[in-house]
Amino acid sequence: MSELKNIAILCSGGDVSGMNAALKRFVEYSIAKGMTPYFVENGYEGLIDNQIYKADYNDVAGIILRGGTKIHTSRSMRFKEASYRKQAIANMKALNISYLLVLGGDGSFKGMQKLCDESEGIAVAGIPSTIDNDIAGTEYCLGVDTALNIIKSAVDSIRDTASSFRRAFVIETMGRNCGYLALVSALTSGAEMCLIPEVSYDLESYKKIFQKQMQEGRGYFIAFTAEALHNTQEIQKWFEEEVGIESRYMVLGHMQRGGNPTVYDRLMAFHFVTHAIDGFFEGRKSSVVCYNFGGFGYKNIEDVAFKTSRICPDLLKLGAEYGRDI
Ligand code: ADP
Ligand code: F6P
Repeated sequence: MSELKNIAILCSGGDVSGMNAALKRFVEYSIAKGMTPYFVENGYEGLIDNQIYKADYNDVAGIILRGGTKIHTSRSMRFKEASYRKQAIANMKALNISYLLVLGGDGSFKGMQKLCDESEGIAVAGIPSTIDNDIAGTEYCLGVDTALNIIKSAVDSIRDTASSFRRAFVIETMGRNCGYLALVSALTSGAEMCLIPEVSYDLESYKKIFQKQMQEGRGYFIAFTAEALHNTQEIQKWFEEEVGIESRYMVLGHMQRGGNPTVYDRLMAFHFVTHAIDGFFEGRKSSVVCYNFGGFGYKNIEDVAFKTSRICPDLLKLGAEYGRDI
């Protein structure tokens, strides 16, 4: 640990529920370790524009139950340019900040790596934070459990009206290029259909199964689509025109990113931040805190930010059962 004990935190890219719990732990644990915590407002934009403030206990009082992030987030085009990163580094050095925690996704970690390489002395640690659960090298990203629970509550409500009206409902989840949210939500909501980019599907096979089930008395269907497929409305029409059942679609959208963080996300936020700060005390200069096989560890930024994530094979196997008469 160097003589300089000023440590900063920022949120970058899509916000997630659990970021505020992470901020609370950051302030409390860094003070307990004899460091001075700083908040960077507005992600990398704030780092460039010198929106960097000392934080204390008062700043994190009562925020643990709030979704989003108290210190705001951004996507910064400017941070991709070396001249702006130079400005950001100068701002940090002027405040003697030599440690930086970044809550974000793989894009944010690429930026973090560059800042570390170009700064000659600033140590960085990433905390995987995205509802998409699409970061390589970690099984879990902060915010995923809350997003899944928000989706679960929405679908439980949709089921009430779907069954009352004898309709098919097509529900689109977020996830960018990844089908994780759709797949886990489909399985845990007892849905009849799940279309994600990672698993091939055959609409004819679904049609045969659904029409047979309707003859046997099934009155409604719940179907999930991942946003990556861009086919939600098409599938809604397919239910009406091919399967022969009235249908509606619903794009859950940004509500999946908000809401009261679950107990699991609050706890994971505490663990991620604790490990990030402990990593600095162990002399780590640039790493991402990852969660695998029930435990926390550290990975090189390159092994996380520049690799493609994969949904675990057991989940994909369950996903492959959809649309097949097994
Ligand atoms: P996420 O972190 O969720 O993947 P983005 O891909 O939008 O989200 O990245 C968030 C921010 O990280 C970008 O707006 C940019 O400021 C920074 N960033 C992303 N890629 C790079 C890069 N190659 N070099 C420098 N900064 C980057
Ligand atoms: O990465 C998180 C995420 O919510 C994705 O699931 C989604 O595709 C994207 O961000 C939406 O971005 P924005 O908030 O800019 O519309």
